[in-house]
Parts: sequence; structure tokens; C-alpha cells
Amino acid sequence: MTEAKLISSLNEENLSLLSKTYVPSRLLLGPGPSNAHPEVLKALSLNPIGHLDEAYISLMSDVQKLLRYTWQCSNRMTLPMSGTGSAAMEASIANFIEKGERILIAKKGYFGNRLVDMSSRYKAQVSVIEKSWGQAFSFEEIKYEIETKKPSIFAIVHAETSTGVLQPLDGIGEICRKNNCLFLVDAVTSLGALELLIDEWKIDIAYSCSQKGLSCPPGLSPFTMNKRAEEKLVSRKTKVPNWYLDLSLLNQYWGSDRVYHHTAPVNMNFAMREGLRLIANEGLENIWNRHITNANKLWDGLENLGMELHVSKDFRLPTLTTVKIPPAIDGDAFRNHLLRKYGIEIGNGLGELSGKVWRIGLMGFNSSEDNVNRLLNLFDTELGKFTVF
Ligand SMILES: Cc1ncc(COP(=O)(O)O)c(C=O)c1O
Repeated sequence: MTEAKLISSLNEENLSLLSKTYVPSRLLLGPGPSNAHPEVLKALSLNPIGHLDEAYISLMSDVQKLLRYTWQCSNRMTLPMSGTGSAAMEASIANFIEKGERILIAKKGYFGNRLVDMSSRYKAQVSVIEKSWGQAFSFEEIKYEIETKKPSIFAIVHAETSTGVLQPLDGIGEICRKNNCLFLVDAVTSLGALELLIDEWKIDIAYSCSQKGLSCPPGLSPFTMNKRAEEKLVSRKTKVPNWYLDLSLLNQYWGSDRVYHHTAPVNMNFAMREGLRLIANEGLENIWNRHITNANKLWDGLENLGMELHVSKDFRLPTLTTVKIPPAIDGDAFRNHLLRKYGIEIGNGLGELSGKVWRIGLMGFNSSEDNVNRLLNLFDTELGKFTVF
């Protein structure tokens, strides 16, 4: 043994580091993560097995089949990427953009902005159309921009978590096909919660996350692409400039060969299988109805308490509600009170809506009548205590 002195961070001030990990119990009614389903947590806590074990390989196939059901698609390349939603977002840009290619991004909030940022890092020619935070694009606006700008990819966020807007997607896929353009959709806050029909809506590439509609912890990002996208990928002139997210390499593991690419986060995939199994058991249509019913109850309840919602009903997002903070209320203090006294998280506004709205999420396992009633009751009894004079 050498006599080297070990560096210790364990001085008297932080001896608590030696106590067991403790995490307080929370009801997560913010923009995500949402609470994981208890059955998902059980699956997550199983002992890992090897990522090339035949039992794991069979579980991978289950996850892919269940994901195809949840995405409503028949795409061969349907897989959960290792990493949070932003990983699959980045894969969607890195694999389908080559230097100088035009991407058209319809931006109406914070996450549209992230798509713009990523695309410019991969040296795309980025064209942006913009709406104010709280509005959706009309079909005609999108059609006009695709026809005039002639991008090779058109990207849009289905459910803008920063604003609470649900973007209608009808007919856009058709326009993209007519204009030889790939249709890319961010479904981070819609997959497994809201109607989303990848094949029928002619969406070529889509990505999501594990921590919202799928009732899992954060860590995986479901991804799917169709044959049109596969063709585009094989016709690339240059290597995908991101090794970890290179779909042709990932295809060797998630396609038929099951060849090692990176060590899969096996426990997260146990959890994902369980989350998807619960979705298949409940049935997508029942799930979509549950989310709409509970959101309507929340919206009516808030309005009955005199609160104003940020987005008009036509484009309101059932998974994430933005409610205006009344001018006389200290918004941060109320939010902190809910967290500290009742263990309930709601979100602050993001970006330009910071301090103007709260964001209330009802996603996956957490979209329940009990949760809506509990929160409305606290708005009713506690909010007045945070009036600033
Ligand atoms: C619409 C949308 N897109 C992308 C992301 C990024 O996902 P993640 O934070 O899981 O990386 C989020 C995160 O909440 C989101 O709401």
C-alpha cells in the first residue's frame, strides 16, 4: 500500500454524507418530470442483467413493439435512446442535417428555440418562423412557408411545455411529402398522453422522453423514423458528426444484429417496458380521454376560482396548463409554500413567461381526478395568504 494521503471531503461540516440517501416524497404537478408509476419503480429496482443477455435482448424487442403501439407507427427504427428528451432531439438533427442544408423551424416557445440552437451547431441553414408564446401556427402559415422556403426538413414542437400550446399537425405531413421535405416532430410532452398518430399523420421523424406521458423517471428518449428518413440517412455524403447518437451505429444494436454500441441503461429499459405495458393495458384512447377529462376539470376549477388561463381553449395543452399569476400574488412564495408544506411541485414560467404564469402538469400516472381536486383545493384555501399589499 502506498502512503498517499486520501483526499477527503468528509470533514465535520458534512458528515451527513455518510447517512443513507434520502429523497423527500413529492407530487410532481409541474412541467416534468412527472411521478413514476409504482410498478415502474419496481421494475427499475430489479438487479441489472447484461445488455447482450438473451433475456435482455428479448426485453428490447418488447420495448420496441410496445413503443410502436404507443407511437401508432410501423417504423422498423423505433427505439428508446439513452439520454433525456434532448438526446433524441439532438439525434434528430445530427443525423438528418448535412452542412448547409435548410431546416425550417416553426418556433413558438422555449423548445423551438432549442431546435434552432442545435440545428445551427450542426451547420444547417436555419429558417425560422415565429409565433408569440401562447399561440399556435395555422396550417396555411406552415404550408406557405414550406412551399416558399423549400427546406429539406420541417421541424415543430407538438406540445410546447413552455407555453401550454398544443400545435395541430393535421395535413402538414402531406405538404412535406409534396415538397420533398422530412417532417420532424417534438412529442416530448404528448407521447403516451395525447392523440399522436405517427403513420397516419405522415410524420417522418419523432422523439419524446420517458418522464412525462410514459410515467417513468427521466433517462430515455423514445425515437422513431420511417423509410423516408432511413433513405435520407443512407444517402448522406458525410459521417454523422456525433458518434453516440449516430443512428446507423445504433441500428446495429437496435436493428436485427444486436451488436454492442454502448452499454445500455438496462434498468431504465426495464422501467420503460413496464411504463409501456401499463399504457397498452389501459389503451391509448382511454389514456387520451383521461388526460382531456382531467385537464378540463383543472381548467374549469381554476376559472371558477377567478384565475385566468394563458392559452385560448382551442390550442390549450391538456398535459401542461399555463395559468396567469394574479398581479396581487407573490407567485414564487406560493409555489415554494406548496412544495415545502404540501410536497407538491408546480412550475414557474419558462423564458419570457417566467414570473407571469405557473405551469401545471397532469401527465401519465399523475393525470388523475384526485390530483386535480387536491391542487384546486390548495389554490382555494392557500393562495390568498400570498397577497402582496
Ligand atoms: C417540448 C420539449 N422538448 C424537449 C425537451 C427536452 O427534454 P429533456 O429535458 O428531457 O432533455 C423538453 C423538456 O421538458 C420539452 O418539454
